[in-house]
Amino acid sequence: MTQAITSPAPPAAPGLPLVGDAFAMAGNVGRFFTEQYLRLGPVFRVQALQRRFTVLAGPEANLFVTRQGTTYLRSREFWMDFDWEMGAGRSLLSMDGAEHARMRKAQKTGYSRSFALERLDDVIGITRGEVAAWPLDEPVPGLYALQRIVTDQLGTIAAGISPRDYLDDIIVYVRTLLAARVTRQRPAVLLRTPRVRRARERIEELYAKVRAAHERAPDERPDADADLVDDLLALHHEDPQFLPETDLMPAVLGPFIAGLDTVASTCAFMLYALLKHPDLLERMTAEADASFTDATLTPDSLRRLDVTHRVALETLRMYPIAPAITRTVSNTFEFAGYTIPAGEQVIVATTVPHHLERHFPEPGRFDIERYTPARQEHRQPGVFAPFGAGPHVCLGAGFAEVAIAATMTTIVREAELALDPPDYVLKISPAPTPSPDDRFRFRVVRRRRSSAERDGRLRSTRSGQAGRQRHRPARQAAP
Ligand code: HEM
Repeated sequence: MTQAITSPAPPAAPGLPLVGDAFAMAGNVGRFFTEQYLRLGPVFRVQALQRRFTVLAGPEANLFVTRQGTTYLRSREFWMDFDWEMGAGRSLLSMDGAEHARMRKAQKTGYSRSFALERLDDVIGITRGEVAAWPLDEPVPGLYALQRIVTDQLGTIAAGISPRDYLDDIIVYVRTLLAARVTRQRPAVLLRTPRVRRARERIEELYAKVRAAHERAPDERPDADADLVDDLLALHHEDPQFLPETDLMPAVLGPFIAGLDTVASTCAFMLYALLKHPDLLERMTAEADASFTDATLTPDSLRRLDVTHRVALETLRMYPIAPAITRTVSNTFEFAGYTIPAGEQVIVATTVPHHLERHFPEPGRFDIERYTPARQEHRQPGVFAPFGAGPHVCLGAGFAEVAIAATMTTIVREAELALDPPDYVLKISPAPTPSPDDRFRFRVVRRRRSSAERDGRLRSTRSGQAGRQRHRPARQAAP
C-alpha cells in the first residue's frame, strides 16, 4: 500500500542550469557525492540528464541497503535497457526478489572464489603470455593491456572459451552498451554506428561459439571442465520458462563482460599506484618472488599474500570503479528523517565512506597500513563497499580478488615497469565506469626472467591445466 508523504523533500544539491548536476557528476562522481554528503547529510537530491534522483549516502545508507534493500529497492528499471539491447526480457542484474535469488544461486559456483582458485594456472599463464608480448622500452596503453588479460582470463575460466580473437569487439561493444544504456553518459545512437554494429555481430558470433562448445554435457567433453555456461544451460533445460532462450545471451556472455570495466580498471589503478610508490612496488615484488614455486602460485600461497592484498584493498577504496548503484523505490520508506516515496529513483552512493576522514584518516593518502590487523579500518560496519551492497552485491567479488592478486603479482614478477612519461599524473575517465584515462601508459624497462625460464614455466603451466580438478556442475551437486 502506498504511504502518504509526511516529510519535506530532501535538500537539493546545487545544480547547473539546463543540465542539472550532470557535468559535476560526470567529472568524478565519487568526489561529487562525498562533497554533497558533507554539506547536506545522508539524503539529498540531484538532477542529472533530465532525471531527478534522491541520493542516499554514508555508512547508514549501505547498512540500509544490505539489511532492507530486498523489500524497498528494485533493480529492474536501471538495467532493463541493457537487457532490451541484448534481446532479453531480464537478467541477473535486473531481476528482483525470489526470481533474482534463484538466478543468483545458479551462477554462484561458476563465479566463485574457489572456482577461480582451482584455475590459478590459467590466470597466471594468460597473464604471463600477455606480459611476454609487451614490447621492450616502448609505451604500452595501460588500461587496454589489462583489459586484454582480464577478459581472456574470465572467458577462458568461466565460459571455457578464450575470447582472444574477439577482444577488441568485446571492448567496443560492451563499453558503448554500458555508457549508452546503463549509465547514459553517451547517446544511444552510438550503438547504431557501423563500428559498434560490426562489434555486436562479432559478439553474436562468439555467443554461438560458446553455445556450440557446450552442446554436449561436460562429462562427454574431453579435457573440459563444467563451468558457468553448463550451469546456465542446465537451468534453461530444467525450466525453460524461468530462463528462456531469449535471456540466455546476457547470462552466457557474462564472463566476457564482467571483468572489462571492473577487474581490468582496478588492476590499471593498482599498477598506477605501484608505479607512483616505488617502496610498495619493491615490497610487492619481493613478496611475489618469495611466493611463486616452480611455474605457479598455489591457492595457499595466493591466500598468504599480504602486501599484494593490502595494495588491492587500498586501490579498491581509493579508486572504486562502481561509486554508486541506482534503484527504483518499490515500497515507501523512511531514511534519516525523510520519507522516500515509492516510484522514486534513488542512487545509493555506496563508496562515499571510502573518502571520509572519520573512517579512513587522511583519505586522500594511499596507505596500505590501514588494513593491518591493528587497524582494520575497512571492517567498520557499512564503510567499505567497493563491490556494492544489498541483494545484488557483486557475485564475483571472490573471483575478482583472486584475479587481481594473481594478475598483479605475476606482472611485477615478470617485468620491471615504469610510467611513460615518468611524470604522468592520473586522470580518471568517467565512462562507462571510472578508469585511468587513455594517457596512462607504461613501458617495460627490463624483463625479470630469461625467455628460457619463461618458456619453461609456460610449458609446465599447460601440463598443470590438464591435471586440474573437474568442477561438478550445479545440477549434479549434492542437495
Ligand atoms: C574489481 C572488480 C569488481 C567490482 C568492483 C565489481 C563491482 C560490482 C558491483 C558494484 C555490482 C552491483 C551492481 C548493482 O548493484 O547494480 C556487481 C554485480 C555483479 N558482479 Fe561484479 N565487480 C567486479 C568484478 C566482477 C567479476 C570478476 C565478476 C565475475 C566473475 C563479477 C560478477 C558480477 C555479477 C554476476 C553481478 C550481478 C550480481 C547480482 O545482480 O546479483 N563482478 N559487481
